[in-house]
Amino acid sequence: MRARVLSGIQPTGSPHIGNYLGALKNWARIQYDYESIYCIVDLHAVTLYQDPQELRAKILELAGMLLAIGIDPKHSALVVQSAVPEHTELAWMLTCVTPVGWLERMTQHKAKAEAQETIGDGLLQYPVLMAADILLYQAAIVPVGEDQKQHLELARDIAQRFNSLYGETFVMPATHLPTVGARIMGLDDPETKMSKSAVGSGHAVSLLDPPAAIRKKIMRSTTDSNPAVDFQAMGAGVRNLLSIYQAFTGTDGDAMEAQFTGMRYGDLKKQVADAVVASLEPIQKRYHEIVAEPGYVARVLREGAERVTPIARDTCDKVKHAMGLYTA
Ligand code: TRP
Repeated sequence: MRARVLSGIQPTGSPHIGNYLGALKNWARIQYDYESIYCIVDLHAVTLYQDPQELRAKILELAGMLLAIGIDPKHSALVVQSAVPEHTELAWMLTCVTPVGWLERMTQHKAKAEAQETIGDGLLQYPVLMAADILLYQAAIVPVGEDQKQHLELARDIAQRFNSLYGETFVMPATHLPTVGARIMGLDDPETKMSKSAVGSGHAVSLLDPPAAIRKKIMRSTTDSNPAVDFQAMGAGVRNLLSIYQAFTGTDGDAMEAQFTGMRYGDLKKQVADAVVASLEPIQKRYHEIVAEPGYVARVLREGAERVTPIARDTCDKVKHAMGLYTA
């Protein structure tokens, strides 16, 4: 049996080139080597208030985009988290074995809570739900970025604690993450990772941005006061532009140096913009074809849920049995 891969992405904001180059492209690549489950985590999204109408639209948009970038529903199960109620069922059972102190230590919760007037309990529970996503399918491989590593370690701790209280039930998910690709930074602020929630229209290139918007954002991106590209002394903004170019075109390091050394930033930006526009064009074309086919995305999501439900049900029943909960 092939090892199972699971990952998740929130349906908030619009997926951008940072998501694509850092994670989604890798999802599409590894789906042929593993049994893959990719989850649109709408229940995680509502840990912060979301406009209901917008959330509904974003779920379908993200599903369409995942298909457009190459997630192949013949190979991967594309699942909306809330469509498989076992995610929440398992999350509750795991909540009961998770010390509050473990959750209070999570740095992401602290950062998110700082920006809120009142904090929903869901924000604290967020990593338990994520542990449930992973443990529900006994996933062996969980590709996530650096920012999710602490959550993944918590999932292991929760699994271990459950196993020691109730007997061997969960397979340990891997902590060793495969390299997930380039880490793309904000165009307006190259010191922070490109984020879906960051405000500011110059921050991220959305995968659905029209060519003119892509060019405008890249031409206005933050660089530094050097006159031209210098590989020995380059600021974070220039490095980020070069990473974007390299990730989209697959140019190797030596060729990058030969091509860009001494180039003025205006010209560099033009070349980066051309590469991004050219790479996104076929993705956007596929996206529009996919969403134009009536009922197609909904059918893929329904089939995804149907495919994973027996696995999820089996895990929940095992966990209920281990805990002495009632099973008819
Ligand atoms: N918390 C993850 C993020 O924001 C998303 C996520 C939810 C996830 N459940 C998951 C990732 C399970 C991997 C596995 O990026």
